[in-house]
Amino acid sequence: MSNDQRKYFRNLLLHFRPSEVPERTLRLSLTWSLGGMAVVLVFLLIGTGLLLKFAYEPSPERAYDSIVYLESQIPFGQLIRNIHRWSGNGLIFVGFLHLLRVFYTGAFMAPRQLNWIFGLALFTAVIFSNFTGYLLPWDQIAYWAITISTSMLDYLPGVGTAIKQWILGGTEPGPATLINFYALHTAILPALLLFVLPFHFWRIRKANGLVIPRSPIEEPGTTGPMVDAMPHLIVREVAMALLLLATVLAISMFFNAPLAEQANPGLSPNPTKAPWYFMGLQELLMHFHPVFSVFVIPLILVAGLAYIPYINYQAETAGVWFCSHKGRKMALVAVIIAIVTTLAAVLADEFLTRDSLAGPPNMINNGLVPFAVIVAACTGFYVLLRKGFKANNNEAVQALFTLLVTAFVVLTVIGVWFRGTGMQLMWAG
Ligand code: HEM
Repeated sequence: MSNDQRKYFRNLLLHFRPSEVPERTLRLSLTWSLGGMAVVLVFLLIGTGLLLKFAYEPSPERAYDSIVYLESQIPFGQLIRNIHRWSGNGLIFVGFLHLLRVFYTGAFMAPRQLNWIFGLALFTAVIFSNFTGYLLPWDQIAYWAITISTSMLDYLPGVGTAIKQWILGGTEPGPATLINFYALHTAILPALLLFVLPFHFWRIRKANGLVIPRSPIEEPGTTGPMVDAMPHLIVREVAMALLLLATVLAISMFFNAPLAEQANPGLSPNPTKAPWYFMGLQELLMHFHPVFSVFVIPLILVAGLAYIPYINYQAETAGVWFCSHKGRKMALVAVIIAIVTTLAAVLADEFLTRDSLAGPPNMINNGLVPFAVIVAACTGFYVLLRKGFKANNNEAVQALFTLLVTAFVVLTVIGVWFRGTGMQLMWAG
């Protein structure tokens, strides 16, 4: 590259990136490069998705065969499908870890509150992109996963069934569903992602960059030395992107995206499971009245997630991992409590309470009562931390968040790996 070319290239880059960044924000132990990885995966998905469009045909008669043709007849077709599939799953995973890192470094506090909301919008778009893409191969796994997931809507009193039929374009997945999902997956949701992403980056620039990492005993406000973005930031970003691309490629070379037999609406597999990222919900559905497991609890959790940055916190902890030393210990204790109590509750519900609740599930016994018990337990936990352990509200909110997220992860793990035929509990699989 000549000197002039190098200058133009550098100029172009610096239209997108700040010219200088605080040296401290380059530490891997702040971001773990997770946001950057998410960006790379978004573009990898769009690139491979565009290639898949050359082969894929969105009709129940042709969809499955077009995937088989892609995999067996088109050079690198299987590889492109694998990359697309694993990047989609990877994006949920990386996006979730990024959310956790933002939360645990207090990077949602003012002036970053709105960016937390943009992040949640991005994450929602990522989940629904995965969900709508899941149906497209039109195989048994896809058909029945979408059937079971959308049937959860039937439990929404009054309007649930109407909404389900609107999404499906009928009473069960069929040609209209495939077209709806295809349009959402290949046009609406990618457009939404690409529309919201610049706002996400704009808010980072408006906040003068990322949170500055600091130790719990350091005062806020110390920015430390600044360094040129080129090469310090850009070289790190490019290295991370190349490493990620190599990893996705390696995984895609060794593991094929699943494809079962062609969808058969008359024969449901046993067990019928939702996609893994909705298995926490499906597991919840096995223990609570549907109105609570599918609506009340998720709605409260999502509203709580959106409310996190607007809580009036007592301490300025942005940039400090886990708020403080005490906060770190409390988060760890919350993880242990959540694992033990969730496992115990699932086992007790499975083996002890089923018979005593004989008869059709009712809203009071299976909904209101256990829900009230959980709310009381969470409130008790919060009060105990505040009053008994003298935690400030940053530390207590963090511990409560940790408790709930861990419980949801445990439910997801149980649903994905420990439910077998007839959704009975079983030992691994
Ligand atoms: C497709 C999904 C997402 C993409 C591509 C993305 C991308 C990024 C990138 C590249 C950064 C810069 C620093 C870093 O690597 O951490 C960032 C920062 C940030 N993200 Fe995301 N993000 C996504 C989802 C989320 C989610 C789910 C949340 C939270 C709900 C979130 C909230 C934030 C916040 C508050 C910052 C500023 C952090 C700071 O100042 O330290 N993002 N994001």
